Amino acid sequence: MAIEAPSSSSSSFFSPWPDRLRNAAFILAVAAAALAFLVLVDELSPLRAGAAFLCIAAAALVPWRLNNATASRDDVRGVNPVEAAVVSAVVAGMPDPAVLLDRAGRVIHLNLAASQLAPALRKNELAQFALRSPEIITALREAIATSEPRRATYLDHVPVDRWMELIITPVPVPSAFGGVEKCMLMTFHDQTPLRRVEEMRADFVANASHELRTPLAALSGFIDTLQGPAKDDAKARERFLSIMHAQATRMARLIDDLLSLSRVELSAHVRPDTSIDIVPIIRQVADGLEPLARERQVLVEIDLPEKPVQIAGDREELLRLFENLIENALKYGAAGGKVIVSLSTATSGEGAPEIRVMVRDFGPGIAPEHLPRLTERFYRVDVGDSRSQGGTGLGLSLVKHILNRHRGRLLIESVPRHGATFTACFPQPKSSFPA
Ligand SMILES: Nc1ncnc2c1ncn2[C@@H]1O[C@H](COP(=O)(O)OP(=O)(O)O)[C@@H](O)[C@H]1O
Ligand SMILES: [Mg+2]
Repeated sequence: MAIEAPSSSSSSFFSPWPDRLRNAAFILAVAAAALAFLVLVDELSPLRAGAAFLCIAAAALVPWRLNNATASRDDVRGVNPVEAAVVSAVVAGMPDPAVLLDRAGRVIHLNLAASQLAPALRKNELAQFALRSPEIITALREAIATSEPRRATYLDHVPVDRWMELIITPVPVPSAFGGVEKCMLMTFHDQTPLRRVEEMRADFVANASHELRTPLAALSGFIDTLQGPAKDDAKARERFLSIMHAQATRMARLIDDLLSLSRVELSAHVRPDTSIDIVPIIRQVADGLEPLARERQVLVEIDLPEKPVQIAGDREELLRLFENLIENALKYGAAGGKVIVSLSTATSGEGAPEIRVMVRDFGPGIAPEHLPRLTERFYRVDVGDSRSQGGTGLGLSLVKHILNRHRGRLLIESVPRHGATFTACFPQPKSSFPA
């Protein structure tokens, strides 16, 4: 269906013919009676009377808005000024981009959000010329042709890629001729956040099942071997069983991490309110990781205050947080031979006092391009290295979620070949902190 072209002699806003006939009926009846009387009293020939009637009828049916059309171009055309102001105010007040079109697709009113979304949109001009996306044009054509609501989804590339949903709803607007005009309200909704969440969910499920399937495949492979070719080979059995044990541990760890992550996410909106001393928590984690430090030949330097350092926190979550950071430093930064765990106070960018726990290693560090992605689930700089160390790729994601719940933040700094520093920052409670 073709879009109605704009024309100077016909406006889509004029009332349809039946409406106009109804409105002019009284004038036409009076004119017909007067002309008939003049014909009857021989003052006018029937031919002239007919011609006069046609002239009167034409004048009565030409829409008077033609003369008046430019009087208030910014208003909704054909509507009294109060109604026009109401319609404009409603469109202007809509939070999403909104455009009111006449039934040819000409812009009657648009709000600020719409002009930011499509700067080429102009009042009194056809929207089809300003909105280039084929999906929008098709939806608009169909809405014009059918007077039915239409929806379309399209990818907007400017200024950044965004998934937009367009909804076109036919809306009746009162016309100056007593009837109603079928206008169209176009609203745009940014669907990008929803799509991102959906993509993340799908990626997460795919990653989690992949991570679980790999050790599961190894386990069932070794079971087959132990039941078949290696049935009576005691040496092979020992070796395979130890690999199977490692794979089963890996699966258990992955499930543990997934459960911890979902628990923290579930309670993300509830900030922990128990006052807790974090110094013994950090010491407990460091003591627990002593065997790993010895195995990796790393010296762990602990620089913590003697006095308690209270924060509002969840003990179990804080244990997981420090365990992940120190374990990472021991595993990935082992080459540096030293890890420093220290606690200090500082001021955040917004000027709020913070308690900072810094875990610094002197290993190979992390290339800058990886830093922004480290806290994504399953993101690893070197997947093989992480797996061989029993990693799941969920540790830093868990750290970030725990810190979010504590209204804190994670700072990551690294100079490749000079190590990495992970700093957990907690808001300092107003009442207590050692001098
Ligand atoms: N201290 C560190 N030094 C170098 N790389 C690190 C360090 N900590 C973390 N990483 C990198 O970040 C990745 C993600 O860490 P994490 O989320 O804890 O997952 P995992 O340890 O299970 O692999 C690791 O795989 C590793 O590549
Ligand atoms: Mg880790």
